[in-house]
Amino acid sequence: MARHLITSAIPYINGIKHLGNLVGSQLPADLYARYQRARGNEVLFLCATDEHGTPAELAAKKAGKPVADYCAEMHQVQTDIARGFRLSFDHFGRSSSPQNHRLTQHFAGKLADNDLIREVSEKQVYSITDGRFLPDRYIEGTCPNCGYDKARGDQCENCTKQLDPTDLIEPRSAISGSTDLEVRETKHLYLMQSGMRDQLNAWIDSKEDWPLLTTSIARKWLNDGDGLQDRGITRDLDWGIPVKRGDQPWPGMEGKVFYVWFDAPIEYIACAGEWAEAHGLDDAAWQRWWRTDKGADNVRYTQFMGKDNVPFHTLSFPATILGSGEPWKLVDYIKSFNYLNYDGGQFSTSQGRGVFMDQALDILPPDYWRWWLLSHAPESSDSEFTWENFQTSVNKDLADVLGNFVSRVTKFCRSKFGEAVPDAGEFGPEEQALIDSITTRVRAYEAHMEAMDVRKSAAELRGIWVAGNEYLQSVAPWTTFKTDPDKAAAQIRLALNLVRLYAVLSAPFVPDAAADMLAAMQTDDDSWPDDVPAALEVLKPGHAFAVPEVAFAKISDEQREDWQARFSGVRT
Ligand code: 2FM
Ligand code: ZN
Repeated sequence: MARHLITSAIPYINGIKHLGNLVGSQLPADLYARYQRARGNEVLFLCATDEHGTPAELAAKKAGKPVADYCAEMHQVQTDIARGFRLSFDHFGRSSSPQNHRLTQHFAGKLADNDLIREVSEKQVYSITDGRFLPDRYIEGTCPNCGYDKARGDQCENCTKQLDPTDLIEPRSAISGSTDLEVRETKHLYLMQSGMRDQLNAWIDSKEDWPLLTTSIARKWLNDGDGLQDRGITRDLDWGIPVKRGDQPWPGMEGKVFYVWFDAPIEYIACAGEWAEAHGLDDAAWQRWWRTDKGADNVRYTQFMGKDNVPFHTLSFPATILGSGEPWKLVDYIKSFNYLNYDGGQFSTSQGRGVFMDQALDILPPDYWRWWLLSHAPESSDSEFTWENFQTSVNKDLADVLGNFVSRVTKFCRSKFGEAVPDAGEFGPEEQALIDSITTRVRAYEAHMEAMDVRKSAAELRGIWVAGNEYLQSVAPWTTFKTDPDKAAAQIRLALNLVRLYAVLSAPFVPDAAADMLAAMQTDDDSWPDDVPAALEVLKPGHAFAVPEVAFAKISDEQREDWQARFSGVRT
């Protein structure tokens, strides 16, 4: 049995994520986790909320709440939405957990012990009105690169250039709008990752099987431009993990916290500790996933994320791990995604454009979204959500192909043979041809799922559904029944077994429909079809079943138009 550690990029705590965020990390990670579990492998699938940094503080302020209360509430909101989409995390943690506090301070201490941290006195913008420094998003102004007048201190949203707060033209406080600002000296810790370029290059070179999207971004940041500069890992903020050297105070760093991008990836590890605690397990239970000296040497670790997160996962976080000199598990495979666009533009959290996860669940069950998003995952390029495409895909794939197959087979059997698998008849050449073709397709589906080729997996699964429909259409048991009822019985026995097989194969994509199909077939046998012919005989003659409720209702033109209009503006 293989062991898979799987993490999805941890979503920021402020606000509810849109469908573009979902398809870029959590959803494909869930697909892979469900698949690996179905194959009988041991899986630890972790995600968490990313709770520190200026966005969290600003959002709490806007909501008029203390930031800790705001984060606790939003964590619950995100937990409920994740459940709504059937994201099967083993634990959904919080980067503000005590485990992450300890571990982040531990890593900083180790990096300092290994001479990889230096103290830098730097100039930061200070707001006299607010009585505080204004790091990152606490400051806004005009982008020196493109002239956009709402650029933030860490990055211009318009041209994506990474900025330093002191770069902004006509800067103002994002808290008070005050322009009564001055530049003051402040001391910060820097991670000296620039000296690790060769080590990181060698590590990335060893990953020949990584997707091009991942390695090209990593190499770009490593080798051209200013990607691997030493990075400030502390901030003058109240909310965050207090700067300590292990469990000792860090002289000169009192009142400062670690930068959110330093502690966020460490939460992947801390989250395993939270998972162990939540299940009453000891430290050995989580360390066997994360410490190569304690059992993690035979773990395969896969990370899922959008392309904007790749530099932090291929450079900064590995630099933290390697620099610690301790035997922590490094990622084995990074699956990254392009962007999903929305109806002719971009999804945007800050501008409230697109469909957000809570809104999606308000209008349709999770399987509809899961299927469309995964079958259109932005893998080789950006992809686009349009309501027309969504309607077509749901109606054709889910209603006409999968839903229709299940409904026709079960209803026909009930009307002619009753609600049990019919006994009579033998399989002929058509049945054998179908079994052979499904066998080939199942092996291809497995290969795509193993390779995390999400779109190809969806296409193959759909092909497996289509094969069943085409078989039914060609042998036409409703016609055969009139002249040769035994033959029709054999055809329907095979088709009912296909319903169970479809449930097993489809569960990673559409878990609710799969559960309903298994329930209708009145079986708990969801074992993977290593032997497809045998899997198509699991439901024996006489086995009772029930006709399921309509699994997928079609999306009407009126609904589509209504949603199109409803989601054309911005969410406030
Ligand atoms: O882009 C984001 O949503 C970040 N919160 C991802 C962090 S992933 C990690 F490093 F923890
Ligand atoms: Zn710009």
